[in-house]
Amino acid sequence: MTNQELAECALSARALSYCPYSGYAVGAALLTASGKVYLGANIENASFTPTVCAERTAIFRALLEGERDFVKIAVAGGKQGEPPKGSFPPCGVCRQVMAEFCPSDFEVIVVGDGTVTSVSLQDLLPFGFSKENL
Ligand code: THU
Repeated sequence: MTNQELAECALSARALSYCPYSGYAVGAALLTASGKVYLGANIENASFTPTVCAERTAIFRALLEGERDFVKIAVAGGKQGEPPKGSFPPCGVCRQVMAEFCPSDFEVIVVGDGTVTSVSLQDLLPFGFSKENL
């Protein structure tokens, strides 16, 4: 699966977003080594703190299906009902969750305004804390 194809999946996953508070719809598409694509979207909450990002819903879905080997993830976010403007890179909490389950060369594909930028997890979270430190 190409980065462009995974980006299209992330864009389509934005339709699943529940974002009445921020108005930002985010979609994610995670490719596993088994060749499956797991979609995720941000799910917000009136109490704000329980909100879960699109990347983590995709990763948790895959984990709960027994998947453990992840190749790359595409993320697309922006104002609900509008195409992405600029970029919407993963937040720090999502980077930390990726670091738990994904290799350092895991590819994060950030979908922008007609652009698709690939960044490694190592570059997104340098000198991060992980199980190697325990
Ligand atoms: N959000 C994501 O889904 N992924 C990120 O990596 C950053 C932020 C969501 C959380 C919230 O629902 C909305 O974007 C605005 O912050």
